[in-house]
Amino acid sequence: MIQIEHLTKRYGQFTAVDDITFTVQPGTVVGFLGPNGAGKSTALRMVTGLTPPTSGRATVMGHAYRDLPNPGRHVGVMLDASAQHSGRTGREVLTIAALHMGLDKGQVVTALERVGLTDDEAGRRVGNYSLGMRQRLGLAAALLGDPQVLILDEPANGLDPQGIHWMRGLLRDFADGGGTVLLSSHLLTEVQVIADEIVMIGRGRIVAQGTTTDLVGARGTRVGAVDAAALDALATALRARDLDVTSSAGVLLVNAAPEVIGRVALEERVVLTELSAGGAGSLEEMFLELTAATSREGAAA
Ligand SMILES: Nc1ncnc2c1ncn2[C@@H]1O[C@H](COP(=O)(O)OP(=O)(O)OP(=O)(O)O)[C@@H](O)[C@H]1O
Ligand SMILES: [Mg+2]
Repeated sequence: MIQIEHLTKRYGQFTAVDDITFTVQPGTVVGFLGPNGAGKSTALRMVTGLTPPTSGRATVMGHAYRDLPNPGRHVGVMLDASAQHSGRTGREVLTIAALHMGLDKGQVVTALERVGLTDDEAGRRVGNYSLGMRQRLGLAAALLGDPQVLILDEPANGLDPQGIHWMRGLLRDFADGGGTVLLSSHLLTEVQVIADEIVMIGRGRIVAQGTTTDLVGARGTRVGAVDAAALDALATALRARDLDVTSSAGVLLVNAAPEVIGRVALEERVVLTELSAGGAGSLEEMFLELTAATSREGAAA
């Protein structure tokens, strides 16, 4: 578990991270989402003990990161995948890290396998790695000590769609096995496919948080019915239950989860032709809205 309480970082007059509070429970992947300069990396550096907070605190498995004995065995961290020594091979980078953590060499092989780096790739110099290979190596380093918690800054950066799909599977399995994952991204589409919950920040402050499903659903569910009369009847029944219903172009937009609407439709014996949570487009809209006032472009406008 990761607990972040009133975490704040000021550089002179500038507040990079402003009173952030949230928890990451075991078994979940939380996506820390925000535009460039929002304060994501600064917050993750505070969580991992690299930057002291101005106020507030963060604990990992009940301890400040710095107080964890042999932290790599409990918390896998990847803050900057390009930070690896470029003259060493991937295997050397991991072997050195394994020595530091007191692990045996077998764990290097396991970590390489987990991230899908081949023997041949592991033998190449990191300086010659592609961006995606670097990310995989960074992830291998984070997984090396078989930790229960992962803290990853922009882990999907540079991965192709297949790579993102792969990472999603890896993090999902990690969380399903009881692991705790906190990752950051400035790309909504990435976070949306990977995270169970989203914490959105803009200019250091949390602007929205919740489950990915709720945040998508918050923008409404699209509902289509077999004909106009059926759609009207359904709209009336939904309004009678105090739900907000707007209709446009032959569909309804309702501020309720698909299941709620499905049940009303069943009671009203209306045949649905469409029932879908807001979808990527609407969460994107929300992301842009929420961050407009805090992003560079918004600030300039
Ligand atoms: N050591 C520092 N001194 C002064 N300002 C800093 C320092 N570190 C970070 N900042 C400022 O804090 C703000 C947040 O930076 P941070 O790197 O946390 O953003 P981010 O959300 O990770 O952005 P990105 O998506 O671009 O990685 C930026 O305005 C940055 O310039
Ligand atoms: Mg960053």
